[in-house]
Amino acid sequence: MRWTSLAAGACVFSAVQLVQSQYVEETVYPSPNATGTGWEDAFAKASALTAQLNLTEKIFVVTGVQGPCVGNIPAIPRVGFKGLCLQDGPLAIRQASYASVFPAGLSAAATWDRELIYQRGVALGQEFRGKGANVILGPVAGPLGRSVEGGRNWEGFSPDPYLTGIAFSKTIEGIQSQNVQACGKHYIGYEQETQRNPTVNADGVTIEAVSSNIDDRTMHELYLWPFADGVKSGLASIMCSYNRLNETYACQNSKTQNGLLKTELGFQGYVMSDWGGTHSGVDAIMSGEDMNMPGNLGPGDSTVSSYWGYNITTFLNNGSVSESRIDDMARRILTPYFYFHQDNDSWPTIDLDTVLLNGGILRNNVPAYQHPFNFGNVSDMNRDVRANHGDLIRQIGSASTVLLKNVNNTLPLRSPKRIAVFGNAAPDSSGGPYDPENENGPQAVGGGSGTGRFTYLISPLEAIKQRNPSALVEYITDNTLLTTQQSSTISTIYPQPDVCLVFLKSFATEGADRTSLLCDYNSTEVVNTVTSSRLCPNTIVITNSPGPNVLPWADNENVTGIIAGHYPGEQIGNSIADVLFGDVNPSGKLPYTIAYQASDYNAPIVNFTGVNNNDPNLWQSNFTEGLLIDYRHFDYSNITPRYEFGFGLSYTTFSLSNLQISSNASNVTAYPPSLGSQIPPPGGNPALYDILATVTVDVKNTGRVAGATVPQLYLGFPPDTPGTTPPKVLRGFDKTSVLAAGQQETIRFNLRRKDVSFWDVVRQEWAIPSGSFNVLVGQSSRELPLSGEVTFL
Ligand code: NOJ
Repeated sequence: MRWTSLAAGACVFSAVQLVQSQYVEETVYPSPNATGTGWEDAFAKASALTAQLNLTEKIFVVTGVQGPCVGNIPAIPRVGFKGLCLQDGPLAIRQASYASVFPAGLSAAATWDRELIYQRGVALGQEFRGKGANVILGPVAGPLGRSVEGGRNWEGFSPDPYLTGIAFSKTIEGIQSQNVQACGKHYIGYEQETQRNPTVNADGVTIEAVSSNIDDRTMHELYLWPFADGVKSGLASIMCSYNRLNETYACQNSKTQNGLLKTELGFQGYVMSDWGGTHSGVDAIMSGEDMNMPGNLGPGDSTVSSYWGYNITTFLNNGSVSESRIDDMARRILTPYFYFHQDNDSWPTIDLDTVLLNGGILRNNVPAYQHPFNFGNVSDMNRDVRANHGDLIRQIGSASTVLLKNVNNTLPLRSPKRIAVFGNAAPDSSGGPYDPENENGPQAVGGGSGTGRFTYLISPLEAIKQRNPSALVEYITDNTLLTTQQSSTISTIYPQPDVCLVFLKSFATEGADRTSLLCDYNSTEVVNTVTSSRLCPNTIVITNSPGPNVLPWADNENVTGIIAGHYPGEQIGNSIADVLFGDVNPSGKLPYTIAYQASDYNAPIVNFTGVNNNDPNLWQSNFTEGLLIDYRHFDYSNITPRYEFGFGLSYTTFSLSNLQISSNASNVTAYPPSLGSQIPPPGGNPALYDILATVTVDVKNTGRVAGATVPQLYLGFPPDTPGTTPPKVLRGFDKTSVLAAGQQETIRFNLRRKDVSFWDVVRQEWAIPSGSFNVLVGQSSRELPLSGEVTFL
């Protein structure tokens, strides 16, 4: 039976009451052996090393052990293998001293700037390498951001798969340019925190993790899309996720691992489990998981069993698993180690700071672990790996700042003499270097394994003071005081400020989904208090948030400016000051939609918490909206957003003109040439990446100050495209250079075969529909002044 027949139906979206059996899970065995395509020399070295290993040593390679890093594969000195140190996370090497805290993935996406995203990856790679980490547990393309409340959406990039795909692959290319292995996570369908893992209820019944039930077309066109881009970029490893996918745990899902990843996408690297995400021995191994994290070898080494470890000997002895599968796992793991020259003497040792930060101890200056690792000495401990990355972080921070409202050009603030600052997100942090959840302090990042440990943090208040040394900067940053004593507190501000700045924040973290889209700490009341004071008819509200907020005060006429600052990392204060005072002209664009009200969003988190039920399969999340998430849902359901996907103002204006569309290919066939049963090179059938059309547009700065913008190309698929296809989808973007007033630039968009195809569930292939595509170009998903048509069939 086909994986699912759901998307083939024409009336999928009227049939909201899905029957579980519509998501039929196909099994795919055996797990394909890696061939080393693209990594030939390294693959040969990995094969030679694997051939030297005895079974116990192979078990060490595929099962993690206790050690200094977040994840640890021990060294095998007998054969010269130095082991692997795996460290979190996507925005910083978290378990380290003297490391930078970069902008979150969400902020990187809000720049829409390929080069900056790449440079962020390069700098992250340098820091991980400098600390001796072989593998960075990032970047994130799952969650994609199906549900606006998703607790970890900010770790990834955008609910749009095209934007995420580019950000994901540019990040991977940047990280891996420094010979650090990226681990793209979490694969796949990991779209909520609530019940991400199984629980045991009051009656002692194990209630399984939520099952993300995704039809085949949606899988290909949304959730798998960015992973395909990452694999094409040479991604070394992938982390399988906690959730179930169509009722099978993601780490033992043969369809997604053996089928989609290792066959359809030709993935040559290794699949590691999320921490504790392995739920079986034989099943997970046969279904394509290659490395078990954090592992545990079992009796004789650790008290806790990880299903793998020494149990693997039993699986081999009783014939459930063949040694050739274990060899493939080892080769997949060892190939990137050689490809990135991590075996070389020049590869940095592990900084001992991670031992102490991980709760380990040093005995006579040597870490005390059962297994060997490639440790450095106490003499070069606490290495400072930050270099000048603070400058890049500041630049990405300001480039990711999105200007949403700017009445009468209230911004930029030229040289205000009197500035009033309000809100608990403005002052220095009161919670220490490692506490993104504290009440008083900037929200520079979110919480959980994807957070960072600050070596320093520049708060907005500090940056504002430094930027305006002669101005009167007065502030009230206690939200409780502001909202309970209201007029009495605020009236202490004197004399009348030129501008009132209100700093709000929203916290989000791994392990919990957001419960409100309002900013935290009584934010609405804070804004009301400030704007109702006669002192503040000119109020600018700045938010630092993990994604969309609802902004009930946005139409308040005393709110003259609104800025979405996202999670920009350690330079949060400077990044926002650069935009407020006009040192940087904002060019960030929303990588998501801001709605008028929370109920305008679809695809909510599934939540049966507290429901008294002993059905282990209670937690089902049916992705019935299919392709229609974020702006695609707003377009399809005709809901007006408050600020649309792709929106962002500038201190100048731009005009777009001269749309040219040229089709580069003749005799285009609906389907790419078949590869038969051959496994394609990484990324899948190479023909999917052929450029079939090129679109150009002229962009001119029509205002008075220099600035950059992001022209965006959306495609409307032909009406005959089967199933429910979104009215339009993003299929091109590029940031202009910083254009001087009056300056013009031509921007080019390449449309690849995959960009103009839908996933044909019957043929199991990407297909170009016949008929004419609408080509729409503009500066946001709802401001698309240029349009044309292109036809391939
Ligand atoms: C669980 C998280 O889901 C994952 O992202 C992280 O890398 C591991 N824990 C290790 O901390």
